[in-house]
Amino acid sequence: MGRKVYAEISKQALIHNFHVVKQKAPNSKILAMVKANAYGHGIVSVAKILKAADAFGVANIEEALILRQAGIENPIVLMEGFFDSTEFEWIAQYQFIPVIHCIDQIEALEAQHFSSPISVWLKMNTGMNRLGFSQETFLSAYERLKKLPFIHIIGFMTHFPQADERENPFTAQQTEIFLDTIKDLPGEKCLANSAGILAWPQTHYDWVRPGLILYGASPFADKTSADLNLKPAMQLTAEVISIQTIAKGQRVGYGGKWESQSNATRIGIVSIGYGDGYPWHAQSGTPILVNRHLTHIVGRVSMDMLAMDLTHLPDTKVGDPVQLWGEHLSIEHVAKGAGTIPYELFCRLTDRVSIHVVD
Ligand SMILES: Cc1ncc(COP(=O)(O)O)c(C=O)c1O
Repeated sequence: MGRKVYAEISKQALIHNFHVVKQKAPNSKILAMVKANAYGHGIVSVAKILKAADAFGVANIEEALILRQAGIENPIVLMEGFFDSTEFEWIAQYQFIPVIHCIDQIEALEAQHFSSPISVWLKMNTGMNRLGFSQETFLSAYERLKKLPFIHIIGFMTHFPQADERENPFTAQQTEIFLDTIKDLPGEKCLANSAGILAWPQTHYDWVRPGLILYGASPFADKTSADLNLKPAMQLTAEVISIQTIAKGQRVGYGGKWESQSNATRIGIVSIGYGDGYPWHAQSGTPILVNRHLTHIVGRVSMDMLAMDLTHLPDTKVGDPVQLWGEHLSIEHVAKGAGTIPYELFCRLTDRVSIHVVD
């Protein structure tokens, strides 16, 4: 197989996590977020495994087309809507559902005539200040859309930036603004992301929009996936390709940032680096597993390799499997060591990492 660096995606784990969402939000439909190549897990395989989802959420038309062309028939929501009118043809042909979040999009729709109906979601900005109509402009946006005979408004959406902070009242305040603004408008409501689903049950309503928890990672800084009964869907694996024994005072890697403190330090070199998406900024001390034994990386991550301390693991040999994250090493811990979040670790994997669906 040559250089070994691969991600195994567990079908059972994805299905388990999907059921956790179902249990948490039993009366809501599920808009499963598969944008960014299903958070690096492989968009087509994940959509096929999660075929029970009521809809899939993607970031752009390219991702939506990949799904349709792979035979996925579930409704597909374009989370940022369309970027220009060249996308209208695809939207109409494949029945994609754009999220309408700004006035320019309404103007573009007004200048167009669709012969078949187009379904849309209308987005409200309740405090994240990223996309969506403000409380003040929302109703007039709704009225303008309503006048277009070819537009069917499915419902209303907003997004939470701080739902992972259980003690922070901001999510509840956003929900109140949302409900106050739409009042009795007919349509479905869609608010909760992963953290909202777990921490704010009062925000579930008609639809929930899980991303991270489907892949088995925790959206909370103080909880791991195991605490939340989630199963990591990805196991990222590489292998030991070389072992060196170095003396006290010798240094490892670019910049000589890590120095051996003993006369018989064993260093294992692993077949993964930032060219594969493992973060360059992971610090010495970031956890790593070899043969299921815990150790840590030392020195700077290179493009194709990284180094780990094997001094306390004398039986380790070249060819042994190394887990970067997965079932036995939580991605939350690795993310801490790299000063980042699980979302970024998943999404930054490059196509040098082959993806295999297992079980
Ligand atoms: C609008 C929107 N909804 C839902 C999600 C899913 O969020 P999470 O992965 O935290 O569940 C995202 C993710 O970025 C998003 O942008």
